[in-house]
Amino acid sequence: MKIGKFETKTDVFLAPMAGVTDVAFRELCRQYGAGLTTTEMVSVKGLYYNSKNTKKLLQLSPLESPSIVQLFGHEPKVFEEVLNSGVLDNFDIIDINMGCPAPKIVKNGDGSALLKNIELARQIIETCVKFGNRPVTVKFRKGFGENDDVLIPFAKMCEEAGASAITIHPRTTFQGYSGKIDLEDIAKVKRAVNIPVVGNGDVRTYEDFLEMKKTGCDGVLIGRGAVGYPEIFSICAGDILKKNSIEIAKEHIDIMKKYFDKDYIQKNFKRHAFGYVDGECGAVEKRKKIALAKSVEEIEQILFDEK
Ligand SMILES: Cc1cc2nc3c(=O)[nH]c(=O)nc-3n(C[C@H](O)[C@H](O)[C@H](O)COP(=O)(O)O)c2cc1C
Repeated sequence: MKIGKFETKTDVFLAPMAGVTDVAFRELCRQYGAGLTTTEMVSVKGLYYNSKNTKKLLQLSPLESPSIVQLFGHEPKVFEEVLNSGVLDNFDIIDINMGCPAPKIVKNGDGSALLKNIELARQIIETCVKFGNRPVTVKFRKGFGENDDVLIPFAKMCEEAGASAITIHPRTTFQGYSGKIDLEDIAKVKRAVNIPVVGNGDVRTYEDFLEMKKTGCDGVLIGRGAVGYPEIFSICAGDILKKNSIEIAKEHIDIMKKYFDKDYIQKNFKRHAFGYVDGECGAVEKRKKIALAKSVEEIEQILFDEK
């Protein structure tokens, strides 16, 4: 798939997930064939105010080429200032979050709240295109309220405003993660615009990937399905894999050690570890022990030493 001048190596990508897709997990997923990885969503306001914690989210792996930062916010002027500041110069592509349903984000007018304000959304995209000097992409949901459907007008607006690609998660904000997505929604958007369309939602297997590709979408974005299962990218890209989850967990933790201290790993590796033990012998017992583990060494012992 092409985004501006950047061509991706595969058409299966890792979704941004706050608290999950840190630089280490993104590096692991790139090793396993993810054609694109994106930072967790980053507050443009946080960057504007030079917040240390916000800036930490901008760490990149050398494998992330092209690199994508995902920004959220609702004030075009703040986007402009941040893009002009140089703080994002390491990134090849700017992605704008117009899909996050979390109440703390929506109540500020950010994320999926922008689905209710298409003119403001347009201004934000135009600002990023004008001041970003690189391709801009937009990730959004189907609509805000329970039965809203703004997919086609919103997709067309993104194209008109200069977006180089869009990602669709065809659920409403109201739905959160409940119910099933309708693949026809992705097919409809693909027919309505001439920029690349990435489909997203509920892909957990190679078969799911193939079903989504049937919509005609240019790429498939996988989120929850990659947690504990990063090899899904290799599998979708057509590689046969001979490793087991525990070997991959070991690789994951080793990458984390390159980037983070033990305290961070102890807190943040657990949700991945739950995924890696899924389907293993004694998984329930192991999950309980991982939940209680107080150090990285303890987690490693549960994963790698216990039979
Ligand atoms: C824990 C978690 C954090 C997420 N954080 C983000 C985020 O920072 N930015 C974003 O655009 N979407 C975020 N999402 C949404 C995912 O990118 C994706 O759209 C959603 O999970 C549906 O895809 P999936 O069914 O493959 O998981 C998040 C989802 C989860 C579960």
